[in-house]
Amino acid sequence: KAIRIKKICCIGAGYVGGPTSAVIASKNPDIQVTVVDYNRQRIEAWKTDDLPIYEPGLLEVVQAARDGNSPKQTPNLFFSTDVDRCIAEAELILLSVNTPTKSLGRGAGHASELFHLESAVRKISAASESDKIIVEKSTVPCRAADTLRDVLAATAKPGLHFEILSNPEFLAEGTAISNLLNPDRILIGSLQTPRGLEAAQALANVYGAWIDSDRIITINLYSSELAKLAANALLAQRISSVNALSAMCESVGADIDEVSYAVGLDKRIGSRMLKASVGFGGSCFRKDILSLAYIAESLHLFEVADYWRSIVHINEYQKNRFTRRMVRCLYNSLTGKTLAVFGFAYKKDTRDTRETAAITVVDDVLTEGANVRIYDPLVKETQIRHELKSTTARLDCVEKQLTVCTSAYEASTGADAVIILTEWDEFSNRGEPVRRDSGHGRKTDERAERKVDWTRVAELMRRPMFVFDGRNIVDAGALEELGFRVACIGKA
Ligand code: UDX
Ligand code: UDX
Ligand code: ADP
Repeated sequence: KAIRIKKICCIGAGYVGGPTSAVIASKNPDIQVTVVDYNRQRIEAWKTDDLPIYEPGLLEVVQAARDGNSPKQTPNLFFSTDVDRCIAEAELILLSVNTPTKSLGRGAGHASELFHLESAVRKISAASESDKIIVEKSTVPCRAADTLRDVLAATAKPGLHFEILSNPEFLAEGTAISNLLNPDRILIGSLQTPRGLEAAQALANVYGAWIDSDRIITINLYSSELAKLAANALLAQRISSVNALSAMCESVGADIDEVSYAVGLDKRIGSRMLKASVGFGGSCFRKDILSLAYIAESLHLFEVADYWRSIVHINEYQKNRFTRRMVRCLYNSLTGKTLAVFGFAYKKDTRDTRETAAITVVDDVLTEGANVRIYDPLVKETQIRHELKSTTARLDCVEKQLTVCTSAYEASTGADAVIILTEWDEFSNRGEPVRRDSGHGRKTDERAERKVDWTRVAELMRRPMFVFDGRNIVDAGALEELGFRVACIGKA
């Protein structure tokens, strides 16, 4: 028999839970989807048009399902803090809570913190009066499902059945909606028992509303858990490999963009995730590699653990290398110099700053004594200050030497160098003027619609003027004609 899902409860209204639920609801008008979170402020924000996260196209999808403003749709997307009621009513529960790196005790700095996951499952256990399918959406260590099953077995009302599925999310920030609408694959891991397979089919049917069945892959529960960690480790590994090569390029006179292009044409290698940069950031790569390495170590596979950790190691090296080169170019002293930082987010089209390379670079140059003027089209001043205050060795540097600006021109005023740390289209001097997608009506976007006029930047800066491009988005030759001295990653 097929299980028909009528109500879905998603626990966790963050980067994963919010967009995923919105797309599921918009594609399944017959299913009621409720996103719950114990953070009341977040839930209230999801009910407004000032959503707690920025994603191109997200607001339109949310509005369609939440407000029912399209002809075919009545509202079927809800946001609530009433976690217990929503759990009780749903047949299927998506676990989209955060699983950060542990900060205390055994495995601190390496292992995943499963506290939020466990407490969500205890909530499910206490609130359930009927059978549930529980879906791991959050990235979890291998065999986390066993832990969840154990907690449920010991705490739930007798006679209830809980089936655990693994359905990892592969969306990347900045492209979440298009990734969700048109995914490479949907992975559903289950126990290979009749009830496990039945639950997997029920979830597959939810995705089947908009995704072809040949892209919905059903596999063993533990393969699915490991595949998520493996995917992120392999993606990050490509970036670290290219970044390691970029260091060689700078010395031998090769150009990393040409090397990446050349190797990427080999179909066995492929062209994606080969862009050299100041270092990868984001909430997943570092955390997931460290988690994978920790699991390997706990299995006594020490060489395997070392292998994966070296990817994180190269990433730290790349960030430090970028700062060192900058200091060298600026005559080995940043004291009293002013640096304009263009971009603080860990990549374009997001205002997320988790693990952004900008934290490390700005922290380093503040410590070297530089005055830093940061401009990012989306990241708010409070967020930038918060990130730097929680990491910098010297708090007083942030107070005295840091200014957050509202335009690239304000940031460039009196600066000795521009440092590009995020590949926002508006910073590039190549190609067409940018126009961000309309319809979410934010002031920040009006500001971001025009590209930076580098001639004007040059007029505002001190001489000699430098550009350090941590994203290889500028045409160095064109900037040199304006009088800039330009250093790009992986180019001599
Ligand atoms: C390789 C490159 O493919 C080729 O482009 C280059 O010019 C020379 O080196 P070759 O060594 O002949 O060619 O074969 P290849 O198919 O790449 O396999 C190399 C080794 O890796 C073999 O031992 C193969 O069995 C092994 N291999 C390959 C794997 O273990 N797993 C794989 O997925 C692919
Ligand atoms: C990543 C995975 O792509 C996604 O599948 C997973 O679900 C979550 O983690 P995300 O962190 O949002 O997504 O962004 P991604 O585009 O992968 O970029 C991660 C970091 O790597 C960014 O800092 C980005 O700037 C950097 N990057 C990416 C490079 O430096 N070079 C590249 O070629 C690609
Ligand atoms: P991700 O990037 O994985 O989506 P986020 O931190 O953006 O992570 O989102 C996770 C959300 O889950 C947060 O809003 C947090 O408040 C919420 N959350 C964590 N644990 C629980 C819980 N036990 N019950 C309800 N919400 C939770």
